[in-house]
Amino acid sequence: MNQPFEALKITDSIYWVGAIDWNLRNFHGYETRRGTTYNAFLVKSDSGYILIDTVKRGFEAELISRIQSVCALSEIKAIISNHAEMDHSGSLTKILKRVPADTPIYASAMGVKALAAHFDGLKATAVANGSTLTIDGRTFRFVEARMLHWPDSMWTYDEAEHVLFSNDAFGMHLAGLERWYDDCDSSILAEESARYFANILMPYAPMVAKACAGFPSLGLDVKVLCPDHGPLWRGEGIAKILSKYAQWSDPAAPRKKAVVVFDTMWHSTERMAFAIAEGIQSAGYKCLLLSLECNQRSDVAYEMLDADVILVGSPTLNSGMLPKIADMLCYISGLKFRFKTGAAFGSYGWAPLGQKAVSEQIKPLCANLVDPLTINYVPTMEDLARCREFGRDIVSGS
Ligand code: FEO
Repeated sequence: MNQPFEALKITDSIYWVGAIDWNLRNFHGYETRRGTTYNAFLVKSDSGYILIDTVKRGFEAELISRIQSVCALSEIKAIISNHAEMDHSGSLTKILKRVPADTPIYASAMGVKALAAHFDGLKATAVANGSTLTIDGRTFRFVEARMLHWPDSMWTYDEAEHVLFSNDAFGMHLAGLERWYDDCDSSILAEESARYFANILMPYAPMVAKACAGFPSLGLDVKVLCPDHGPLWRGEGIAKILSKYAQWSDPAAPRKKAVVVFDTMWHSTERMAFAIAEGIQSAGYKCLLLSLECNQRSDVAYEMLDADVILVGSPTLNSGMLPKIADMLCYISGLKFRFKTGAAFGSYGWAPLGQKAVSEQIKPLCANLVDPLTINYVPTMEDLARCREFGRDIVSGS
């Protein structure tokens, strides 16, 4: 039967059978403006097929249709689950109802526990880090990718066609009908891969750095790199994304950019932000201004990926900061961003408590925390000149 959704052959014996989520806009707080894909793969074996990962619940029909464009579900010999998070495992139980009853599931040791905890004691078999397993004539090697980005995360390498299934790592949230990176707009790939790193992998940057440094020693001759979100990498694209990961995860990588992020009540803090930004720029430092009226928390995280200076502006509201600033600070603190220099600023009415609260919150993120700049009610032109000077001084020597 013709299928509404077809598989895409990516090598002689491997097919992409994932799902496209065109409308996803919120991935636990990360605004995914271009949607995403949940990539799953079918690998031909001697007498059937191995399924690698599944898709989010609600997309089962699309997954099944693509599988059935290649084979019957009864031909599936095994399922490899690289990661238990539900965007990759959510349709597992529905698939299990359609494949032979004794179909084994393989996962990392932590993955076995996570799958059981997600799916009412679901049984899977653990594969050890570095081990190989031949399933129906097809040999796979397993590499633990702990905290990239969950404890159970695992990569699976297909020895026959040199394909690495890397799950979340090296992915991006980008819906589209193009499966290969070199069929996509390179500027969109550059932006979305960086957004993904900043919003998903940033807290685990030391583990990413370790994984990148250790990649050559794995001895994998990767010809195709298949993440579970967004386009697949091949040829020189593999080295490019590996090099970007090495750069983003390196705390010593050169950064020379300030981000001024603010919210405002009656435009006083906004005017301060404008003057501070001009002062920063006058010192020869790249500066980006982000109002939380026009930017979402994940935009801020994306811009912070290559920044070393942050200035956070909030007026005082009810002895504290504005709610959007609190939201953004909670988010970027969780992502464990680190900066060389930081400061709070803002306008206040009767006590500068909003700026004090911001300053306390950014203290753990900044090697050098400068005292807040505060202005009573509405800044005068002299006050704004002071703001400009504050901006210039804060980056001088950075
Ligand atoms: Fe794409 Fe950690 O799930």
